[in-house]
Amino acid sequence: MVLNILEKAKRKENLCVEEIEALLTISDPDELQALYDAAYYIKEQYVGKIAYFRGLIECSNLCMKDCYYCGIRKSNKNVERFLMDEEEIFKEALWAYEAEYGSCVIQSGERQDTAYIEMIERVVKRIHEASNRELGITLSLGEQTEEVYRRWRKAGASRYLLRIETTNPELYARIHPEDHSMETRKECLAALRRTGYQVGTGVMMGLPGQTMRDLANDILFLKEIDIDMVGMGPYIPHSDTPMGEEVPPYTDEQKKDALTLGLKMIAVTRIVLKDINIAAATALQALEYTGREQGLKCGANVIMPNVTETEFRPKYQLYDNKPCTDENSSMCRGCLSGRISGIGEEVGFNERGDSPHFHKRVKGA
Ligand code: 5AD
Ligand code: FES
Repeated sequence: MVLNILEKAKRKENLCVEEIEALLTISDPDELQALYDAAYYIKEQYVGKIAYFRGLIECSNLCMKDCYYCGIRKSNKNVERFLMDEEEIFKEALWAYEAEYGSCVIQSGERQDTAYIEMIERVVKRIHEASNRELGITLSLGEQTEEVYRRWRKAGASRYLLRIETTNPELYARIHPEDHSMETRKECLAALRRTGYQVGTGVMMGLPGQTMRDLANDILFLKEIDIDMVGMGPYIPHSDTPMGEEVPPYTDEQKKDALTLGLKMIAVTRIVLKDINIAAATALQALEYTGREQGLKCGANVIMPNVTETEFRPKYQLYDNKPCTDENSSMCRGCLSGRISGIGEEVGFNERGDSPHFHKRVKGA
């Protein structure tokens, strides 16, 4: 059954929700390997064996949202809050440019006040100009108005990441406070699309109560909204959150299962969506040291090395056990480059590594 579905996928036929669910439910080791191999085959055909680096700048942990799973949620009083100044963000982005990363990602907790919006606009503009418009600038700054998205786009940002987290409305409601709305998130994704960004979204997998059918529907949602990039990762409890404080830290067995589910989701997403960019999330490495390169072997083609100054890193703990918090940017560059050559892939240095899907849809428009 599984092998038939994989053959069907290789013939580029569409898979239905039951077939996607069947792939996500695989537990037999041979079938699992066949799934990963099929995903890698499709990855090679559509995006090649090149891993693109995006230098990740985590510029502030101030957040007005209160998601029940997230370590930097507003109500967590055990976090020392920080906000990098414009100069620091600029410096880190330029570090990524000089390290030949091709692009950077500016991420923070959510803020919608004018001072913040203007600061981001200024710094994006400076990075854009100082890098001769070469460095790809991705923003991951949450829900904003279409007007704000447009201003940041005009300043020089070309991609935006905004995870939907889950497309099951009941599950969404269980993991967020009442005033956090999935509909708003969907509207933001549509606004980003209208504003001309390459748009990325994704989900967390392994949430309490989440089913394989939910995850299969999540993948079909990504396809339906014609997404260009996907960033998704396993849910990992954070002990200072409502969802995390009830559960003991993952056992080795639970870590292994969470990693396998993360890898299966990457593989099936590659098989279904084909020519998009898929990130091997840092959270994979929180579960196993080689988690991110395993993600590449299962169909991901993007890695986000942290370029945040080491002093800020421990304060940006979305989940427990986050890797690379003691390291500095050069160490992560060396470490990840080595891991990638170790699996026989190349790093796309000095390339923006745009999603081929984006170019096709823009040309086709
Ligand atoms: N485990 C895994 N991922 C998390 N995120 C937030 N909290 C956690 C957690 N406990 C993810 C969310 C968010 C992204 C920036 O980090 O998906 O969109
Ligand atoms: Fe940061 Fe290995 S990737 S130390």
